[in-house]
Amino acid sequence: MRGYRILIIGFGSVGQAFFELLNLKRHILGVDFIVTGVIDRSRGFISNPSQGVINEARTGKLIGKKVDLDQIPGLIEESDVDIVCEFTDLNIRDRGEPAFTYLSTALRSGKHVITTNKGPVAFHYDELMELSRKYNRLIRFKGTVMAGTPSFNILDLLPGARVEYFMGILNGTTNYILTRMHDGLAFDEALREAQELGYAEADPSLDIDGVDPALKVVILSRVIGWRRGFEDVEVQGIRNVDVREYGDSVVKLIAYANENRAYVKPTPLGRGNILANVSRNLNALTLKLDTLGEITVVGPGAGRMETAQAALTDLMYIVNHADY
Ligand code: HSE
Repeated sequence: MRGYRILIIGFGSVGQAFFELLNLKRHILGVDFIVTGVIDRSRGFISNPSQGVINEARTGKLIGKKVDLDQIPGLIEESDVDIVCEFTDLNIRDRGEPAFTYLSTALRSGKHVITTNKGPVAFHYDELMELSRKYNRLIRFKGTVMAGTPSFNILDLLPGARVEYFMGILNGTTNYILTRMHDGLAFDEALREAQELGYAEADPSLDIDGVDPALKVVILSRVIGWRRGFEDVEVQGIRNVDVREYGDSVVKLIAYANENRAYVKPTPLGRGNILANVSRNLNALTLKLDTLGEITVVGPGAGRMETAQAALTDLMYIVNHADY
């Protein structure tokens, strides 16, 4: 059986969950995976981590060799792994850096890459696709949209189908907050719960102001084949939403796009609407296809294990499709 060597970059909640999931499922996947290294800005560089590393990693303290951020690309380049799995936090100010540098370095040095980070994919889509073609390595990023719940990858099952538009709930944190506000909670209280449950970004304003779902709109659009950047999405968040103003309607932060227009904005929905019934941290995506009409996928779109599933899906895609 061929063994696949993996380097993990970013060992926070998703990186740890992926490591745990890999250990839990490797026997039923029928593939031998070996995590030969973990690099994390606060936990350091851990070579050949044992399963017990998780207990130490949870503390967030330095447990390996100290690394500076600017050493990470060199470590990626030197590494002899097959696949780099990147789980660092979203950084919008630097337009997806340093994650883009990590991913591009990995592709250039002959590794396949998996990322759950929306920044590099939304801001550097063309460059990443070009590097993937040039170096004949795969890049997979399922976890960027709806965690492990099938979203754009469902199109792989629908050859020839053309997407006319999509509409959905693409942010778990704001959906959780709006749901809890409909239950009567105050905004701050609902946000705190969403943070405790691990749905929110490290900087929760990225959720609240609609930046996170707008990046997902960009990624979905690019996969579908619509050329669109972050600046082309009209974005309105939920900071000023008072659910009591909407009477019997349910307010959802709706993401919508067709080839010509894209937006994210709070939208009142009648209770009979399928999206009105997608609550708490659940996400949903309705795709309008020329062949099938509307199909809707509903499932978790945030959370540590939920996102780790996406990376596992990507990992098995690489195992089954890579041209070694
Ligand atoms: N903060 C994001 C959300 C995480 O709440 O949906 C998943 O992208």
